[in-house]
Amino acid sequence: MPLISLKPVLAAALAERYAVAAFNPVDFNSMRAMVEAAVECDAPVIIQTSAKTIREYGHSMLSSWMHALAEDAPVPVVLHLDHGKDLEMIRKCIDTGWTSVMIDGSDKPFAENLRITRQVNDWANAAGVGVEAEIGEIGGVEEDIVVAEDDAGLTDPAEAESFCKELELAAFAGAIGTAHGYYRGTPEVRFDLIEEINRRTGVPMALHGGTGLDDTVYARAIELGCAKINISTALKHVFIDSFVDHKAANPKDYEPLSYVTAQRQALRALFAEKIRQFGGAGRGAALAQALA
Ligand code: 13P
Repeated sequence: MPLISLKPVLAAALAERYAVAAFNPVDFNSMRAMVEAAVECDAPVIIQTSAKTIREYGHSMLSSWMHALAEDAPVPVVLHLDHGKDLEMIRKCIDTGWTSVMIDGSDKPFAENLRITRQVNDWANAAGVGVEAEIGEIGGVEEDIVVAEDDAGLTDPAEAESFCKELELAAFAGAIGTAHGYYRGTPEVRFDLIEEINRRTGVPMALHGGTGLDDTVYARAIELGCAKINISTALKHVFIDSFVDHKAANPKDYEPLSYVTAQRQALRALFAEKIRQFGGAGRGAALAQALA
């Protein structure tokens, strides 16, 4: 089916209390593994390109890969921009087939963040594209965005409420104690904030920093209003390790496609596991029908 906007996909997930898995691809093979895992699990899925990936391949190549992959899939697939900071890049995503964009103005003062988010919201709404926005800075390293522990600030629920009231968001990303990258200790996830933000805004929340959290954390966050969970770091490790492991197990193998296949199978297993953990399995075809 054609790529679908983030908004109805997350509205359904929030209503039924599951989260749609959002993965950051690095190439065609990882995108293909994401769509294959979603089809295997009969689940919706979000493919979210980082700015770095767009700079590597360009908008039109990524968009054409994703449109081709989604077209053959019987489940809803969203093409989303993760942590968009460059308005020109965001505008081009909207113009070249992304069905969702994140505007991340979280490093700016509230009024400036609201101003640029409103601008993106206007462009996106006119094109039927979903928007994710953030206030409160999420710590850790996400591609070339580095937020030191001291700069990471939790989201103020009152600010979240006035921010969301002014906009029409598909997803709200708050700083709720999670961080990008592997956790060094056990993170103190602020479930009270998730609950309060969701109660005040009613907007499905995106949980950033999804790698390395326990099942119980995922389940509680979903119950309280997180409808999108982002996974990037785990993917990077499987992407590299699957190549290295295949070489170690088959030292004489110089057939590139057998590496590519081994890698895709390993990625697909990771994605299917996350989709199931977040409760998305078995929802895809029904949601596709409801959205048709
Ligand atoms: P991880 O790298 O911790 O999986 O987080 C990914 C993310 O939140 C992307 O925005």
